[in-house]
Amino acid sequence: MMQDYKEILSEILVDEDSIQARVAELGAQISADYTDGNLLLICILRGGVPFMVDLSRKITSPHMVDYMAVSSYGVGRRESSGSARVTLDLQTDIRNLDVLLVEDIIDSGHTIAAVLQMLETRQPRSLKVCALLDKPERREAEVPIHYLGFSIPNKFVFGYGLDLDEYHRNLPFVGVVDLDKYKPSV
Ligand code: IMP
Ligand code: MG
Repeated sequence: MMQDYKEILSEILVDEDSIQARVAELGAQISADYTDGNLLLICILRGGVPFMVDLSRKITSPHMVDYMAVSSYGVGRRESSGSARVTLDLQTDIRNLDVLLVEDIIDSGHTIAAVLQMLETRQPRSLKVCALLDKPERREAEVPIHYLGFSIPNKFVFGYGLDLDEYHRNLPFVGVVDLDKYKPSV
């Protein structure tokens, strides 16, 4: 059982209008940067889904989408394991494509670092990263972020794809968890 988000929300960090405005800006920028119909957006499941769907609809140049899943956090854990494993691979052969990874948040950086290293061996024409959120204070692995929504402080957040023990990904904003009020069911 999960508590209603209102019981455990300490503050809204990025509201819906701000997210949508920033996503539209990123979409315009990406549309201008990728013009020759060779772009593949890769959504990192599951957190990247709302961001990728909204972003894709704001990209006016022709592009494809695909999905991959990587495990770095176990259910109920909130610390990165320092390694990442592909649990669902792409359907697309990315050789010679312009690949843009779409992630919800870069935290320690281990997940994206591992994905970049793995995808590089498949010889895409280009390989870049688009993240909705960045927590720079938490970085352990150096990773490039070519397109960024918002840089945020070191707080545990949920909503707009980000989960709190797998719940609340559906919220249209990014909120901070009140850890005094949140009671994990374990
Ligand atoms: P990293 O490997 O430490 O960069 O972890 C990135 C992944 O951790 C993200 O894709 C999220 O799934 C998860 N994550 C990191 N910080 C948060 C957070 O504040 N809320 C929810 N999920 C998070
Ligand atoms: Mg994630």
